[in-house]
Amino acid sequence: MGNRVYIFDTTLRDGEQSPGVSLNAQEKLEIAKQLARLGVDIIEAGFPITSTGDQEAVKLISQKVKGPVIAALARAEDADIDLAWETLKEAERPRIHTFIATSPIHMQYKLQKSPEEVVEAAVRAVKRARSYVEDVEFSCEDGSRSDLDFLCRILTAVIEAGATTVNIPDTVGYSTPAEYASIIRYLRENIPNSHRAIFSVHCHDDLGLAVANSLAAIEAGAEQVECAVNGIGERAGNASLEEIVMALYTRRAFFGKDTKINYSEIYRTSKLVSAMTGMPVQPNKAIVGKNAFAHESGIHQDGVLKERTTYEIMNPELIGIYQDNLVLGKHSGRHAFRMRLQEMGFELSDAELKRAFGRFKTLADRKKEITAQDLEAIVKEEIRAIPEKYRLDNLHFFSGTQVVPTATVGLFNGEIIVEEASIGDGPVDAALKAVDRITQLNTTLSEYSIKAITGGKDALGEVTVRVKHGERFYIGRGVSTDVIEASVKAYVDAINKVAYELEKNK
Ligand code: KIV
Ligand code: ZN
Repeated sequence: MGNRVYIFDTTLRDGEQSPGVSLNAQEKLEIAKQLARLGVDIIEAGFPITSTGDQEAVKLISQKVKGPVIAALARAEDADIDLAWETLKEAERPRIHTFIATSPIHMQYKLQKSPEEVVEAAVRAVKRARSYVEDVEFSCEDGSRSDLDFLCRILTAVIEAGATTVNIPDTVGYSTPAEYASIIRYLRENIPNSHRAIFSVHCHDDLGLAVANSLAAIEAGAEQVECAVNGIGERAGNASLEEIVMALYTRRAFFGKDTKINYSEIYRTSKLVSAMTGMPVQPNKAIVGKNAFAHESGIHQDGVLKERTTYEIMNPELIGIYQDNLVLGKHSGRHAFRMRLQEMGFELSDAELKRAFGRFKTLADRKKEITAQDLEAIVKEEIRAIPEKYRLDNLHFFSGTQVVPTATVGLFNGEIIVEEASIGDGPVDAALKAVDRITQLNTTLSEYSIKAITGGKDALGEVTVRVKHGERFYIGRGVSTDVIEASVKAYVDAINKVAYELEKNK
């Protein structure tokens, strides 16, 4: 058994199955590029048979992202496998990932197939996938609730048929660390051709045990671990990538395992995924939560000041959390601005840099101290995955205790400025209604959240909205020292995504 653990990232497939999350192909590409920078071994880019959006995303990522293996998911059915290959075929290192359920409950009620039929379908699927590509993964869905002898039988057969990785998911998050480890150990020891495949695990967090189960399985010999950034995924989510990676790193003397993750990209990846999916990271989330390295108690603060390792088992800088220090001021020039962004890992085109610098100057007039977090917020707003059909030009609002809130909004539509006014329940409501009058899209605001990027009265406010159009949800983000302006920007950001989708599907 080697000491390398392969990190299979499923943020863009299982993670995207989180309720309410829907990423377009451009957004998925942005995340995939960041996952490549993070150094994951495999990116599961989508499940092509489920939607044209997933087909487009897998294709785009296959064309543009080099380095990691790019995987696409397919049920054990010919049409799924053919389509997975069609979308993957331009990838530098393609993998078809096919699956079928193996637990008695799934075989009987969901598939209505006998165990013999399931083995036959699995072998056929693996052979078909192997006719296209050498790298084939097979997953037994609901593996942890499957009969062990049946798992031995089906896995022996798929390895014989050419599967190069076999995955035993805890699909419903039911297992416990000791039990899951014993399953993995048993399979590795009792499958005669087990040495010919990589053993993989994939855990869900229904009982809050996904990371613990994954680590126990690694101790028992699993060589690949499937996980998602910020632990997003179906229901309670998948095992969190950053928690697994940092547990392996921090306790390397115990686990004796390595990954090839670039630790300094962890925090940035978490922020990007949270911004793009509109799924906030809870403050007390391990590794990437706002409080993960905050010390409240006086005794702890005193200890850390004397010697950091008294209460910190990880160095926040290792994962890319930089100190919230003053980085630039009102008089900083374009060169200093560009250099600071480069240090923070942002690569901007000339046009993006020009816009971001303009934003920085405006912000520097409004806000005394500009921190790294402020810079990150405005820069992320300028890096757009899709074209902006609408852009905010001007906003006026009138509100108070004894008046009807009113807002006037001017939006650029191309080169033309279109203006509308509306009343509403409050200034945000009035401003968003004015936007609706301009765009004439039948959208509804389904979620709205606001947070301060840094402390102080002049803090930047970041608004995230989730907007529904038809059956799909679109996420928008906006940043400003003025919360009404941030709200309009976030709403317009989401509306631009709706407009882009409509334009594409014309
Ligand atoms: O949870 C699960 O079983 C899955 C498989 C398709 C790998 O996501
Ligand atoms: Zn899953």
